[in-house]
Amino acid sequence: MALLWIVVSSLVSVSSALDNGLALTPPMGWLTWERFRCITDCKKYPNECISENLIRRTVDLMIIEGYYEAGYEYVGIDDCWLEKARSLDGRMVPDKERFPSGMKALADYIHSKGLKFGIYEDYGNLTCAGYPGVLGHEQIDIDTFVGWDVDYLKLDGCYIEPTEMDKGYPDFGKMLNETGRPIMYSCSWPAYQEDKKILPDYASIAKHCNLWRNWDDIDDSWSSLESIMNWFGDNQERIAHHAGPGHWNDPDMLIIGNFGLTVDQSKVQMAVWAVLAAPLLISADLATMKPEFKQILLNRDIIAVNQDSLGKQGLRVITKKKIAVWSRELADGSHAVAFVSHRADGAPHATRFTLDEMKLPSVQYEVVVSSFYK
Ligand SMILES: *[C@@H]1O[C@H](CO)[C@@H](O)[C@H](O)[C@H]1NC(C)=O
Ligand SMILES: *[C@@H]1O[C@H](CO)[C@@H](O)[C@H](O)[C@H]1NC(C)=O
Repeated sequence: MALLWIVVSSLVSVSSALDNGLALTPPMGWLTWERFRCITDCKKYPNECISENLIRRTVDLMIIEGYYEAGYEYVGIDDCWLEKARSLDGRMVPDKERFPSGMKALADYIHSKGLKFGIYEDYGNLTCAGYPGVLGHEQIDIDTFVGWDVDYLKLDGCYIEPTEMDKGYPDFGKMLNETGRPIMYSCSWPAYQEDKKILPDYASIAKHCNLWRNWDDIDDSWSSLESIMNWFGDNQERIAHHAGPGHWNDPDMLIIGNFGLTVDQSKVQMAVWAVLAAPLLISADLATMKPEFKQILLNRDIIAVNQDSLGKQGLRVITKKKIAVWSRELADGSHAVAFVSHRADGAPHATRFTLDEMKLPSVQYEVVVSSFYK
């Protein structure tokens, strides 16, 4: 597969939306899960286990290697940071061997570098990996997060009935709001409902969450990436218009820089995530990142499209001869267009798309090919 990325400018003007909360543009950062999973054996995997060392090392690399400067701001710990039991007074306890300094000290370190601190919990009885969930401990857990200066919370949905989420996630969000600390709220609410063929109430989800996972977890493979792109294209009529400044659909982490994608396939993920106005959460080891992948993650043109202030999620406008065209309207009236080939042969293939087919207004365009392809 290959990808061509262009930005076309026309004289069409658009009005822009306004919002006063967090995530006025899609959040950017780094998150442990896809790459580091639930690795807890630090003796066997000292550089990969979920630990304060991993987080500190990542924070340092985000600064040194230019990720922070490019806009990646949140550093998030996903599942598997907890002890299996709460303390006697009912508090969450970070794993004592892997987080010996505690979460407040880690947050202080992250904040001292100008970055923001993200953490994971689960709305149900247990997290997906079997650690204590928040159900029945909502207030004490929120107080604990605020005490640790958490900036971003991913709240997963294992071990709870998806039908209870329509009330549970908003209730929890209300309690977060009442603390007075602005905390980015990432919900897994629709993902569990879609999985059970329950039609999610996206209007309510967009009102209560800054971002929300819609669908399956991403794995480190092109087939996983393709299935997620297909799902977002196939379901765009239902979901795309719910995205906007402060509230975003989340197709899951960037897997660029791992083992499963080629360089060209990595460009596809970056480009389509930009068109989708998706959160850009890298899940890769920054210490072993190869330069050709880093270049993709730091591509200023593509990040600018992702972060466009209009905040309008783009669409898959046409697929012809297994080439999909994704297009997104930008604040200045131009359109970002990505051509993604799903052809298996890998050979160059000439296909014609009319403006009409690409749902672009019939005006004159200046075509700018992104540095992605130079
Ligand atoms: C959560 O735990 C409570 C109390 O043990 C139990 O009644 C409930 O069925 C559990 N819910 C799920 C979805 O496991
Ligand atoms: C709480 O909600 C109100 C009303 O939506 C909003 O103005 C305020 O900024 C929120 N505060 C926090 C800390 O999220």
